[in-house]
Amino acid sequence: MSNNIQTVLITGGAGFIGSNLTDYFLNKGYKVRVLDNFSTGHMHNIEPYLKNDNFELIKGDIRNPEDCNKATNGVTYVLHEAALGSVPRSISDPVTTNDVNVSGFLNMLVASRDAGVKRFIYAASSSTYGDSKELPKVEDNIGKPLSPYAITKYVNELYADIFSKTYGLETIGLRYFNVFGRGQDPKGAYAAVIPKFVIQLINHESPVINGGGDYSRDFTYIDNVVQMNYLAVTTTNIDAVNTVYNTAVGDRTTLNELMGYLKEFLGEFDDAILQVPIKYGPNRGGDIPHSLASIDKAKRLLNYQPSHKIKEGLKEAVTWYWQKFK
Ligand SMILES: NC(=O)c1ccc[n+]([C@@H]2O[C@H](COP(=O)([O-])OP(=O)(O)OC[C@H]3O[C@@H](n4cnc5c(N)ncnc54)[C@H](O)[C@@H]3O)[C@@H](O)[C@H]2O)c1
Repeated sequence: MSNNIQTVLITGGAGFIGSNLTDYFLNKGYKVRVLDNFSTGHMHNIEPYLKNDNFELIKGDIRNPEDCNKATNGVTYVLHEAALGSVPRSISDPVTTNDVNVSGFLNMLVASRDAGVKRFIYAASSSTYGDSKELPKVEDNIGKPLSPYAITKYVNELYADIFSKTYGLETIGLRYFNVFGRGQDPKGAYAAVIPKFVIQLINHESPVINGGGDYSRDFTYIDNVVQMNYLAVTTTNIDAVNTVYNTAVGDRTTLNELMGYLKEFLGEFDDAILQVPIKYGPNRGGDIPHSLASIDKAKRLLNYQPSHKIKEGLKEAVTWYWQKFK
């Protein structure tokens, strides 16, 4: 094995997005090290890589500076995905969300700086747009955060900016917009809507849409997110670093439309799914009515070109869930 293969550290690599990044970067010939405490991630997500010579797992916690130092040693790129996701989780337990998402993030920045990491790429969030009503969302115009989770993700951006300016650590923040696809956990109180709805439909249980179903999101297939991370790692454009990017498709879909697509695509496997009734519940706190990204900045500076629109992504995703969970 050649010694000049670059090592990518993926924090949260046992989670949904992190395990997809692990798979992609190993296939691209990088060494991949994962740091994860398995709080929301799963061993089964990284099981296929455990015997790969280019893969290394560190079971540890970003709240522990020693674990961060161990994980960043000898690393060229950090893809920082570890965090506690979910707006409702942050509303019921803001302290733990802050410990992981802010203190853990700062520990990772300090460790990356001290280890001489070349570039620190991190999972930011569309929740940073907060109460801004502007559509589409453009990176420079944000509103006030609507949840503890959104505060933590905004603080990440502020810290990353200061570490770039003060210590010369290259940083890129990727503001993910409602990501979905293979490997996203359908279980648990804080599961995301798409995997939750898919599993309920597969089981002929009625999914519950919060609100009237007219709220809309820029649902983003995992392959587009992986592409943005790869572009962030490989870009040689000096104007493209030390900034943040919307990571999305640039289309919006209402929850009612989403449910229609899910029924249509799952109905191809089992036509009884077309008859499953949909229920409606109250709106959730901390939710914004509409979200839609401008992806012009990513196109211009990173040459980003989303490979999957929502329907293409949903077709692949429902096929994956059908094969795994039916
Ligand atoms: N999925 C989305 O739609 C979305 C949208 C915006 C931002 N994000 C961000 O993307 C990142 C990845 O999200 P995901 O959807 O893959 O979630 P996930 O829960 O599947 O993955 C998070 C991973 O981080 C690990 N982790 C959590 N706390 C940790 C700690 N203290 N130390 C070490 N590891 C820890 C978990 O065990 C898990 O493997 C997160 O930062 C999340 O906030 C996700």
